Amino acid sequence: MITSKEQSAEWWLDMNLYQIYVRSFADSNGDGVGDIAGITQHLQYLADLGINAIWLTPFYPSPQADMGYDVADYRNVDPTYGTLDDFDAMVAKAHSLNVRVFIDIVPNHTSSQHPWFQAALKAAPGSAERNRYIFVDGRDGGKLPPNAWGGWTTTEPWTKVDTQWYLHMFSAEQPDLNWRNPEVREEFKNTLRFWMNRGVDGLRVDAPTLLIKPELTAKQAEDNLPDLFPIYAEWRKMLDEEFGPRCMIGEVFDDAETGMENFVDKAHMNQIFCFDYQEAPWQADEFKDIIDSWVTTTREHGSSSVWVSSSHDLIRQVSYLGFPDPKNKGSDIGPEDEQPDLELGTRRTRAMTLMTMWLPGAICTYYGEELGLPDHTTLTDADLQGHDMDRDGCRSPMPWASDKPNLGFSTAARAWLPQPQVYRELAVDVQQQSDTSMLSLYRALFKKRQELGLAAGDVTFIDTDTDDVIVARNGNICLAINFGDDAAPMPAGEVIAKSLPDIDVTDDLPANAAVWLYQDWAVEDDDDEDDDEDNSTDSE
Ligand code: NOJ
Repeated sequence: MITSKEQSAEWWLDMNLYQIYVRSFADSNGDGVGDIAGITQHLQYLADLGINAIWLTPFYPSPQADMGYDVADYRNVDPTYGTLDDFDAMVAKAHSLNVRVFIDIVPNHTSSQHPWFQAALKAAPGSAERNRYIFVDGRDGGKLPPNAWGGWTTTEPWTKVDTQWYLHMFSAEQPDLNWRNPEVREEFKNTLRFWMNRGVDGLRVDAPTLLIKPELTAKQAEDNLPDLFPIYAEWRKMLDEEFGPRCMIGEVFDDAETGMENFVDKAHMNQIFCFDYQEAPWQADEFKDIIDSWVTTTREHGSSSVWVSSSHDLIRQVSYLGFPDPKNKGSDIGPEDEQPDLELGTRRTRAMTLMTMWLPGAICTYYGEELGLPDHTTLTDADLQGHDMDRDGCRSPMPWASDKPNLGFSTAARAWLPQPQVYRELAVDVQQQSDTSMLSLYRALFKKRQELGLAAGDVTFIDTDTDDVIVARNGNICLAINFGDDAAPMPAGEVIAKSLPDIDVTDDLPANAAVWLYQDWAVEDDDDEDDDEDNSTDSE
């Protein structure tokens, strides 16, 4: 049970966070859509896995134009997902299992159905109602958009209403708020208070780089102006003063140095996600650079990395790594596209899991990643039924039970999205029966990570003869991972974990595989008679 006393400082630095895409995790009331009570029913499963924090994607009342990232009421639960009572019960249960709760806060834009925006549409240009958003007179007597900015997901981020146009960096159903307006700032602080008073432990901040817009004459809408950072610094002050240690993680796509300087030093967030890790090509040197810079830089700034491999916006890792030379991680694979080789993708993902679980810092696991779920890559227009067109492949409902309708996700005749055929053999109940499943690998590695104190450790890279492998140590645990197509020499040490149960690692480390080796460095350091050339020790 987490009590306020245990809200010890910096609990986030080494947490095992689990991202729950609420719509697709578990449906408790048989309407085909996941909900909060469904999460509560499965919290024990997550605690058993080794998870100690969950992040819920937006569950607020919303027309679902962007699956909840278009919020119509920031202080309630959409009836599809349950009630505030369900939310409170979920938080209480999570805390009783020592699992902390993050909500997803969406400050850049509201839904166009938000009462504020509806009022703005009815009000006159220049009114207080319009001043909560970014309404600007169009050029040429209102006929043309105010400027030629591009949006994040739309080419035209301006929509005309009368003589004015309003700005939306995402869809037209997501109007951008005016964060230079003190009323907007106050409103959000009160929203944060509302959720913190319900026991929420942390915030995942959506699109935090976009809130402050530059002058209309600037080339782009996104400029990272200095005025941005005080917004979050104010949140930090309020959280610290009124609630104690609470975590803020930013959805920031910067490199480690820029992200830490801006969002940890200036904005006073605790962490930002390491998206470099999720999008890296399958190459040793790329991962080495990412690990090196993130581990070192985050520590210098009093933060830690939040390692991400999959999420609700991009292709799941098993599918991405199922292409021989994965380079550009898009958001979607369609039925007409080249299909991934899931055996290869799974093999590489297992190796990558050994690397992730060995790294210092926090880990963010996307729901179903522990099952090795791939994307649904053959969704048809009929399957989508007007839902998000280009990101639904990674949002298929969780398979809980292989012999139940909708694989145990829902008792409805039809779930909101179909599950691909392969999910049956990947269902939780099937994987629980097997010592060699991805689920068993995850459980075992989370446990070892904890026992070995890896999350608080450090990384030292060891020179290798080939460019295809990373050999590095974190305390006494050496990671060896082979990204290449050929076997590589095995470092010495006692093998304590392997990415695949049936590989022979006596002499060589096979392609697309990884191991953890125990190496007693302390003994070697004390007893330093061996030559320096051989960095590895024999503890066998
Ligand atoms: C980032 C979220 O992850 C994504 O799903 C959403 O569409 C945009 N922000 C807009 O809120």
